[in-house]
Amino acid sequence: MLLDCAIAGGVLYIVGILLMAINYLMTWRSRPKTYEVPVLQAARLSKDFVDSPNPESRLKDKPVLTVAHKIDVWEQAGWHRVWERMPIRFTVWVTIAVLAASAFELVPTFLIRSNIPTIASVKPFTPLELAGRDIYVAEGCYNCHSQQIRPLFAETERYGEYSKPGEHIYDRPFQWGSRRIGPDLAREGGKQSHLWHFEHFREPASMTKGSVMPAYPHLITTELNFGSIQGRINAAAMLGAPYDRELDEAEEMAHEQARKIVRELIEQGGPAKFKTSDGTEIDLEKTQVIAMIAYLQRVGIDLFAEADEEITSSDDKVTPDGAVQAEPTAGAKMNDLDENAKSATPKITTDKKISE
Ligand code: HEC
Repeated sequence: MLLDCAIAGGVLYIVGILLMAINYLMTWRSRPKTYEVPVLQAARLSKDFVDSPNPESRLKDKPVLTVAHKIDVWEQAGWHRVWERMPIRFTVWVTIAVLAASAFELVPTFLIRSNIPTIASVKPFTPLELAGRDIYVAEGCYNCHSQQIRPLFAETERYGEYSKPGEHIYDRPFQWGSRRIGPDLAREGGKQSHLWHFEHFREPASMTKGSVMPAYPHLITTELNFGSIQGRINAAAMLGAPYDRELDEAEEMAHEQARKIVRELIEQGGPAKFKTSDGTEIDLEKTQVIAMIAYLQRVGIDLFAEADEEITSSDDKVTPDGAVQAEPTAGAKMNDLDENAKSATPKITTDKKISE
């Protein structure tokens, strides 16, 4: 019985395909010898052109309401024909309409100091992290990595708690990105060890088998421009980042943090100096890669940090409209934070999907 049904179904399917083929063939055979090319002429743009009278309702003999006739006439767009013959006036009015609409969008954002619910535990980047972030932007990492986890199960399972607007208030310009050739990095902080990142930048495939991410060995061999950090901090402060000691000692603080990261890197089994192929020894503490690691280890962790008093109060300065304390939801989990961050030797991760 089941077999009969299967055969009947299959026969129906094949007959359907045959009918379709015959249909195509017949249609093709009944094609006209030559195709008429319609010639359309636009109404002339002369002053004394007389617009054709409004079209008549196509529902003339139909038993419909008068309003239906009106709608039909309107639908035939005779009124639009008239407009089309006024290019200058049309352009002027469209421009005014667009400007007015833009003003409606723009003006409130200038008037409201903050329309984003701030999160008390979100603090501005440290000087070194800010420098690392600049390298992230300069290298165009956002072309392959997004930094926004959407509130969808598949995303939160893979990357962790979804992104909140308040997490990005010091992210200028934000690095949300729109393409994911590599994974989302919004919760990258603490996910891998420093050493993992170091090796990954040197040679991505050594950490993730088959990785298509380009290598960035120049981050390891290029010195960071520590001298430019103070200016960046001042600029961020001007835009509302509540800095304090950073306003005077950004460069020194960046050196401090770089030393700390290199110490941790060594604890994890990494080098203190890097030897290039031509034998030059580079002091890692001064290099761009350390700033980049500092930045990556910071991305997305503030949401889970304890808000301390001092920062909360300076946060209030930025957002007088009242800070909202966001509670990470119960299901929030940092991607194996403890497991990976503390592991001394980097693991080769082969279980990872490398593209989306
Ligand atoms: C051509 C696209 C591309 C570019 C550009 C790129 N990446 Fe990647 N990235 C990938 C891919 C693909 C992966 C996944 C495979 C892997 O782990 O190497 C990845 C993985 C990563 C990871 C590991 C994430 C994790 O924990 O699993 C980090 C961190 C990372 N990239 C940072 C960066 C940074 C920083 C830059 C800029 C300097 C950058 N990427 C530029 C494609 C790219």
